[in-house]
Amino acid sequence: MKIGLFDSGIGGLTVLKVLQEKYPYNEYIYYGDTLNLPYGNKSPKELLTLAYKDIEFLINKKVDLIIIACGTISSTCFNILKKECPVPLVSIIDPTINYLNNSNYNNIGVIATSATINTHIFKNNINKNVYEIETPELVSAIESNNYDEIKRLLHKYLNKYINKIDCLVLGCTHYPIIIDYIRDILPSNIKIINMADLVVLDNDSNIQIYYSKISNNIMNNTKKILN
Ligand code: DGL
Repeated sequence: MKIGLFDSGIGGLTVLKVLQEKYPYNEYIYYGDTLNLPYGNKSPKELLTLAYKDIEFLINKKVDLIIIACGTISSTCFNILKKECPVPLVSIIDPTINYLNNSNYNNIGVIATSATINTHIFKNNINKNVYEIETPELVSAIESNNYDEIKRLLHKYLNKYINKIDCLVLGCTHYPIIIDYIRDILPSNIKIINMADLVVLDNDSNIQIYYSKISNNIMNNTKKILN
């Protein structure tokens, strides 16, 4: 399967890395909209316009499925894009929300861009105590490898939540890049969640099978034999 992924910049590469390890036989095409980076401080309307272009780029590359490797686009535009996208579209956020609703974590911190936090997507869809932590300057610091600034910002954003949370969601795909810095600040009992770890794909194969006549039985037997 040919899978397209997009983000504003290098953040979505963290999703690509996880998927490539988990599903090595797929073909991956990545698009980073570095011209318009960062996305996190843009309006939902601006983001929708950019997302259409990102998707168009990947559709022109003939992908079979698109993963929005960007928390900001997933939170602000997914429902609209899903209806219009000519191939299946996967949100990076939805699997995390499902996981947390069924988990034992009760005090969940989420760090994400301003645009994502403004949607309240985590708070509105998770039946637990959710602390939304807006982290507006972090993406630019990550993109410019400014590690002193990253450490300063992490302390500023996280210090007051350390005693309140039992897990922290990296609600922006840029944040797994600095997971070691985040770990240094958080006590080891706080679980850190990389949203990409929770994405499940049905298919991991570049095999194409054709039958001259098709039935459910043939489909089921095909799956059984190949599994
Ligand atoms: N990596 C993106 C996200 O997950 C976009 C961050 C940005 O460009 O501000 O939200």
